[in-house]
Amino acid sequence: MICNNLSVNEKGHLAFAGYDTVELAKKYGTPLYLMDEEKIREHARTYKTAMAAVFPAGSVPEFASKAFSCKQIYRIMAEEGMDIDVVSPGEIYTAASAGFPMEKSFFHGNNKTDSDIAFAIDQGVGYFVVDNAEELAALNRIAGEKGICQKILLRVTPGIDPHTHKKISTGSVESKFGMAIATGQALEITKTALTLPHVALCGFHCHIGSQIFESAPFITAADMMLDFIDEVRTSTGFTAKMLDLGGGFGVRYTKDDPVIDYGEKIREVAAAVNAKCEKLGLAVPKILMEPGRSLVADAGMTLYTVGSVKEITGYKTYVSIDGGMTDNPRYTLYESPYTVLLADRPEDPQNLVATVGGRCCESGDLIQENVAMPRPVRGEILAVLTTGAYNYSMASNYNRVGRPPVVMLSKQGDYVAVERESFKHLCALDK
Ligand code: LLP
Repeated sequence: MICNNLSVNEKGHLAFAGYDTVELAKKYGTPLYLMDEEKIREHARTYKTAMAAVFPAGSVPEFASKAFSCKQIYRIMAEEGMDIDVVSPGEIYTAASAGFPMEKSFFHGNNKTDSDIAFAIDQGVGYFVVDNAEELAALNRIAGEKGICQKILLRVTPGIDPHTHKKISTGSVESKFGMAIATGQALEITKTALTLPHVALCGFHCHIGSQIFESAPFITAADMMLDFIDEVRTSTGFTAKMLDLGGGFGVRYTKDDPVIDYGEKIREVAAAVNAKCEKLGLAVPKILMEPGRSLVADAGMTLYTVGSVKEITGYKTYVSIDGGMTDNPRYTLYESPYTVLLADRPEDPQNLVATVGGRCCESGDLIQENVAMPRPVRGEILAVLTTGAYNYSMASNYNRVGRPPVVMLSKQGDYVAVERESFKHLCALDK
């Protein structure tokens, strides 16, 4: 199995976090998102402990909540002492409603409107991660109107390509995010920020991409960011107190992906950061990291009910399920690999190679192609693994399909964290 929260129980069913998935499908219906609460907590502790051991005091992980945002995840993150990355008023509202201490939040995004800025300040967001010159000016103006001085980081693009999918790569010079070091614009916005009375510059942020398995791209990014911090110090006298290296560590979607030890990767990054700071004669800044996927992906699983097995004689076979791109658009968008198991009989001989197709009226609505599995029958449960990141958060109501519920599996029991969307929910805003 690709993760240690998966097993096969005495009935021969797929078990997740010790729970029988076929029973859960019966209890809650399908499609169904499951989340292993202990696994989320375990990952949060790995990041916290590893970072505390190798970086200066105050160096913390922020959960990049775009990966999975609902009230309960913010409560869990608060309990684990995590900071959070938020990117919209919606995420801010959700976190604040869950009672998350907002001074531990970082507000990201490449186009914050004036009303987003005002809302975030009113909600007590700790730090703005400022993307561009217009945002900086607007923030200074709005913070001034509110009589505050807002703490900020500036988002800088170091100009590196971590060789991940081009739609999730963000660190290159031509990225839509942040200000490039290479063009001189990063230094320019830094100088401006230092003149403004209602923003307090604390440091710099970069994010190079996602689903990255090596520490090397992070080390390169850190190296360039520290050179930039040194350049800023020389030309302005300002020494950054914080350096945010963004998120991006990969997860195992299939057995072809490597097992990754996040603690070890963090130690590798720290060794490089500490050596570089010593070389530059810089005090090591507080280091921040923003894991999203690696905190929640393998804590998630989606269960579907098989409707049909359609063999197009001489061509291919489709296994159709009662969900699809509405609850998981990642294959449609990125051709993302997934591991698919027949939850009723995961260990039966794999006598079928099929395409798993969703229920939407769209040919591209596929979950995976060329999946080997035991030939399922109508009513059996299909499990798609590692769906805890960017599935619920990217779900849609295309074809007026309601979003599935999110059920948390904890040591104490299973419970609903997000309810299933009903017809009533779907029509709630219609006049
Ligand atoms: N920080 C920033 C500024 C980000 O933009 C992201 C992700 C993260 C942190 C978290 O990265 P992670 O640790 O999750 O890799 N929808 C795509 C992923 C887009 C990632 C966007 N930014 C997917 O489903 O693969």
